[in-house]
Amino acid sequence: MTEARFIDTFGRVHRDLRVSVTDRCNLRCTYCMPPDFADWMPGDHLLSVDELMTVIEVAVEGGIESIRLTGGEPLVRPDIVDIVRRINALPTPPRVTLTTNALKLAELAQPLKDAGLERVNISLDTLDADRFRRLTYRDRYADALAGIEAALAAGLHPVKVNTVLMRGINDDEAVPMLRHAIEHGWHLRFIEQMPLDAHASWDRAEMVTAAEIHDLLEQEFTLTPTGQRGSAPAEEFLVDGGPATVGIIASVSKPFCAACDRLRLTADGQVRNCLFAREETDVRATLRDPELSDEQRRAEIARLFAQATWEKLPGHGINDPSFIQPDRPMSAIGG
Ligand SMILES: C[S@@+](CC[C@H](N)C(=O)[O-])C[C@H]1O[C@@H](n2cnc3c(N)ncnc32)[C@H](O)[C@@H]1O
Repeated sequence: MTEARFIDTFGRVHRDLRVSVTDRCNLRCTYCMPPDFADWMPGDHLLSVDELMTVIEVAVEGGIESIRLTGGEPLVRPDIVDIVRRINALPTPPRVTLTTNALKLAELAQPLKDAGLERVNISLDTLDADRFRRLTYRDRYADALAGIEAALAAGLHPVKVNTVLMRGINDDEAVPMLRHAIEHGWHLRFIEQMPLDAHASWDRAEMVTAAEIHDLLEQEFTLTPTGQRGSAPAEEFLVDGGPATVGIIASVSKPFCAACDRLRLTADGQVRNCLFAREETDVRATLRDPELSDEQRRAEIARLFAQATWEKLPGHGINDPSFIQPDRPMSAIGG
């Protein structure tokens, strides 16, 4: 284990880095990005593969052991397989996973596996093609399902499928989704909707809570807590005695900030110490500073990471009356 350098004032050691590689997406999920979204990051703000690799190398030297590639949609970035390959070619490679809507996985699952990708988290909120189109503003349900099949066939196990339940929209699908997941070898996890939508319309009272999801599932299945959690956000349950399991991620109603070991890098080179952080630490300027030698650049990036970590607050604060939603939507932060 590398000596940990990313420690905060509460003693939390950070070993997981979420790296957003783009803010672009081929879907427009209603709770993430408006259908007519146009406020894209300027192309020259996006980090190149070489720049990403410099940051990732420094992060790994600072104790980061797992990298989750995300976006926007990470698979719309043309060099995504190269990014995975280069991370795996590091002297001490971190584990590399990826969060995706699966639309491009039919063509990319095997190349990603060959490049060293460990597994994927796939986002899917419905098993109904019409509903998928209404939720995402794109008629791509069949592509998402084909992508999940491809991930299973390529051995990107366990294939975790993440579902956000929304009241009156898809909360009638909890049981059918779990049944389908068990039948098809997906590992399903339900996630509470968080205040990260671009139009700031999230309403705590409307949110389908983890407790409700648990009750909905218990009408049909027997759930037994596995008791395994650690820094992982999902509370896991055996379904009907196992071996199938289901996860419920109570980001809002039962925050897991005290065990958080995650840092984030946005596609335009900003370090965030929390999904809900109000402040970011710029590493892009350091990456592009022509006055710095490579050694100075790396030392400064390590210092910026350590400082951003040190400034991390005890919790995300969603439940505080003074909570203010981040300026950027989830698609631009990197989910
Ligand atoms: C922003 S997406 C990025 C990666 C990729 N495009 C995908 O679909 O997985 C990552 C995850 O964030 C989730 N997400 C986006 N906005 C959210 C919100 N307001 N609350 C909870 N989850 C959200 C999505 O459902 C998805 O599972």
